[in-house]
Amino acid sequence: MDGIRIRGGKPLAGRVRISGSKNAALPILCATLLSDGESQLRNVPDLRDIGTTAQLLETMGCTVHCAPPVVRVKPNNVTPEAPYELVKQMRASVLVLGPLVARFGRAKVSLPGGCQIGSRPIDQHLKGLEALGATIRTDHGYVLAEAPRLRGAEIVFDMPTVTGTENLMMAAALAKGRTTLVNSAREPEIVELARVLNKMGAKVRGAGTGVIEIEGQDELAPFDHAIIPDRIEAGTYLVAAAAAGGDVLVENVPVEDLETLIAKMRAAGVTLEPDGSGVRVVRFNPLRSVDVTTAPHPGFPTDMQAQFMVLMCLAQGTSQISEAVFENRFMHVPELIRMGASIDIHGHTAHVRQAKRLDGTEVMATDLRASASLVIAGLVAEGETLVRRVYHLDRGYERMEAKLEALGASVAREHHVEG
Ligand code: EPZ
Repeated sequence: MDGIRIRGGKPLAGRVRISGSKNAALPILCATLLSDGESQLRNVPDLRDIGTTAQLLETMGCTVHCAPPVVRVKPNNVTPEAPYELVKQMRASVLVLGPLVARFGRAKVSLPGGCQIGSRPIDQHLKGLEALGATIRTDHGYVLAEAPRLRGAEIVFDMPTVTGTENLMMAAALAKGRTTLVNSAREPEIVELARVLNKMGAKVRGAGTGVIEIEGQDELAPFDHAIIPDRIEAGTYLVAAAAAGGDVLVENVPVEDLETLIAKMRAAGVTLEPDGSGVRVVRFNPLRSVDVTTAPHPGFPTDMQAQFMVLMCLAQGTSQISEAVFENRFMHVPELIRMGASIDIHGHTAHVRQAKRLDGTEVMATDLRASASLVIAGLVAEGETLVRRVYHLDRGYERMEAKLEALGASVAREHHVEG
């Protein structure tokens, strides 16, 4: 397994460009199943999760040309089945369920199982498909869904679910009649999927609000689409620049999708100024503690909680960081404490006090965003940090060490690192 070795303590300077959005590209790759023509995606990031999704589509029989930033998919003689060995690598594989049932009348998809950050059930996905007329049963760890033709319905989510909303938008796009999704997620990736479904001939209205209406069609056309920038990658570099200190231009930042994060960073004493398509981050002054509670969009993104916590380790005072979306998303905390952070967890809230200093050491990545927070801590710490198991990082960050090196960081990837 690979590791990343970082020599910390240096401010960052220069410019970094944000890649296409992982969490927009994944549902859009699955939306190609809704048409029988060849679709093309552009500005696709070169990530493990993209490769896994391409492999899944190929396993089902699609012809896939995966050469990021371009990916082309032609669904021909598709077997609507998603095997466990691929689904267990990436939960988002569950996003083939809605398109397969809608287009082929049946689907056999492995239950994704939990992951490090929580149990992450898909009950809302299944409840919605049943409301559209699918018969659902689970058998030996697989979901079996069948429906000669889905019918439009009103679906009320018990909580906003990003992939649940995406799965049902795609299923409803080929259902007969109108579907209304109530209490739907409002993430920018939902809005992006709606843009693509409308390019395919679906009629989707209200994406980005809590109520989405979809007029189902008998068939949908293939599409060509350039993916929006990745707001979480952008937020990660904004926080990295603020934590390390310095003067950095982060290019291609969807500022309108990061308002809560930017407001909290400004409250902490970071200067963030729009600059062309990007944001200029300047921080040489001491940081102030601010409190954060994660929430569905447009609230503070749970995918930025681990990274922001590193910033608060440096801030004067005490910050309360509450994780209200997932039940176990503090896996980075023990590793940060080993680096000298001063954090106490009480239930879903971490109390973060200013650390005297962060010291480089060997740390273990556990999930995608926790590994990003450990890299940021390594940029700040005195001495060397070795982050192990960076395959977690490779799932969601394109060429991270090259991008950080371009900002003046001392970062190097090491292969065959044990543990
Ligand atoms: C998406 O996951 C993202 N993944 C996650 O990003 C992100 O953390 C999450 O949304 C929240 O923003 C992709 O878009 C591929 P949810 P998703 O369904 O859809 C509960 C990353 O780092 N829930 O919105 O799986 C669930 O347990 C990843 O890029 C149910 O109870 O998240 C959680 O507590 C990590 N039943 C809450 O809802 C369901 O059927 C929100 O989960 C579905 C969800």
